[in-house]
Amino acid sequence: MINKCLFPVAGYGTRFLPATKSMPKEMLPIVNKPLVQYGVEEAIEAGLKEIGFVTGRGKRAIEDHFDTNYELEHQIQGTGKEKYLTGIREIIDTGSFSFTRQREMKGLGNAILVGERIVGDEPFGVILADDLCLEQSEGVMAQMVKLYKQFRCSIVAVEEVPEDQIEKFGVVDGESIKEGLIRVTNMVEKPPRNEAPSNLAIIGRYILTPDIFDIIRDTPPGKNGEVQITDALLTQAHDGCVMAYKFRGRRFDCGSVEGFVKASNYVFENIYAAK
Ligand code: G1P
Repeated sequence: MINKCLFPVAGYGTRFLPATKSMPKEMLPIVNKPLVQYGVEEAIEAGLKEIGFVTGRGKRAIEDHFDTNYELEHQIQGTGKEKYLTGIREIIDTGSFSFTRQREMKGLGNAILVGERIVGDEPFGVILADDLCLEQSEGVMAQMVKLYKQFRCSIVAVEEVPEDQIEKFGVVDGESIKEGLIRVTNMVEKPPRNEAPSNLAIIGRYILTPDIFDIIRDTPPGKNGEVQITDALLTQAHDGCVMAYKFRGRRFDCGSVEGFVKASNYVFENIYAAK
């Protein structure tokens, strides 16, 4: 029912310079796997097999990663090294991959609108690969797809964050529907600490209904002069319904060096070395 997932990956990754001078930040490895691959695995696990990347200049390595590398694969064919490619080969065989470019950095709302030509008129997922979400039994996107089947409206993943962190996020407020589920009545992009409507921060996982595209088109630039998906979602919440979901799992902010190192240590100890 939901088949497509957008990955906005046009950002520069300035917090990781000089590593990201010529390499996409999404290709930085958490242990031995690029960050973006974790997100794509999560999408495919949730049944979202049509993957759409909204890219920008300097992101070619992402396209190459989700494609065959004949020379390399020929070279290691039949050797013990081939096993390292099993995971990515499965992904390439299972998913389909489309790429479209965001020419100007006009915000997440604009990036999602650029993805309209990939998505068309269907509900779709959005994963911000910087937010690495790990859950052993059921990934966050799979959890959200289940909720979508029940409520048929846009859903954002949220997490409670400490007060001194709140201004880095979109923040939601609303009415509790049941444990872990809130019907959104207010939403603010990166509010100053004293103006935050709650401690519930939006994490980079969304399911959006396709009417969001027209709403984004009518949404003026907001915080930092960029078109914010948070603003468009607030309109959608007022006109219809948007849910906020407190997901199960651990999240790492891999857009920051600190979060990235924490994620690397966690994956090494709990996944890589535990194999
Ligand atoms: C984006 C969204 C923000 C959300 C965050 C999650 O911000 O605009 O609402 O809380 O992702 O990571 P960014 O971190 O891209 O500035």
